[in-house]
Amino acid sequence: MKDRLIVALDTDDGEEIDWLSGTLMDRVRWFKMGFQTFSALGMEAFPWFKQNGHKVFVDLKFHDIPNTVARDVGTMTKHGANMINMHASGGFEMMQIARNSADDAAYKANIPRPILLGVTVLTSMDETGFQRNFGSERQLIKQVVYLAQLAQEAGLDGVVASPLEIEPIRKACGDNFFIVTPGIRPEWAETGDQRRITTPAEAIRRGADYIVVGRPIIEADDPLEAAEMILDEMKEA
Ligand code: C5P
Repeated sequence: MKDRLIVALDTDDGEEIDWLSGTLMDRVRWFKMGFQTFSALGMEAFPWFKQNGHKVFVDLKFHDIPNTVARDVGTMTKHGANMINMHASGGFEMMQIARNSADDAAYKANIPRPILLGVTVLTSMDETGFQRNFGSERQLIKQVVYLAQLAQEAGLDGVVASPLEIEPIRKACGDNFFIVTPGIRPEWAETGDQRRITTPAEAIRRGADYIVVGRPIIEADDPLEAAEMILDEMKEA
C-alpha cells in the first residue's frame, strides 16, 4: 500500500519538506508537488522532494498550446518527475505530443518515462457549474468518461478523478489505465474545503490505483502516525 499513497506536500517551506521527507521516509513512497511549492522553490524543489528516494508527482495541470505543453512535460521529465498531469481538455494533439516529448526526454536522460495523467473535469465543479461554464447540456460524468478515453487514445497512462467516478472510467478504459484520486478524507480528519470525498478504504474498494492525501497527514500532530493509520485502512480494504 506504501506504493499507492501519494502525500501532497502543499507547502512553500523547504525545511518543512525536508522534515516531512525524513519523517515519512519508511512509510511513504510518493510525494506530490503542486504550484504552491513550485512557485516558491522552482526546480530546486526536486532535490528537496527526492532526497530520501521518494518519487515525485508534478501536479501543475498543464493546459496550453501543444508545443508549449510538450516542452514543459519534457523539462519536468528531464528533472526527474515520476508522474505529471495535464488538462485533457487541452486536446488530443496536446496530449499526444506531450507523450512523445516525455518519451524523448526520458530516452535522452536514460531514465524511465514518467506516468502521464489527464485531468478530466475538476472535482470542484458540479453538474450545474459544468453546464454553465462549458455551455454544454451533456451530463458531467459523460464528459469525464469522454475525456478519459481521449487521454487514453492520445497515449496517456491514466487520469486524476474523483473516487466517485472510478467505476464508469474503469468500464470505459479498462484495467491498464491508472486512476489517481484526491478528495480523500479518513473519518477522523477534517473535511476542509473538499466536497466530493470518500475515505481511503472506500477509494481503494472502488478501484483507485493511487490515492492523494494532503492536510490529514501534513497538518496532523504526528504525520507519521496519520500516514500509518491511512495505510492500515487501505490494507484492510
Ligand atoms: O489536503 P488535501 O488532502 O485536500 O489535498 C489534496 C491535494 O490534491 C491538493 O494538493 C489539491 O490541490 C489536489 N487536488 C484536489 N482535487 C483535484 C485535483 C487535485 O484536491 N481534483
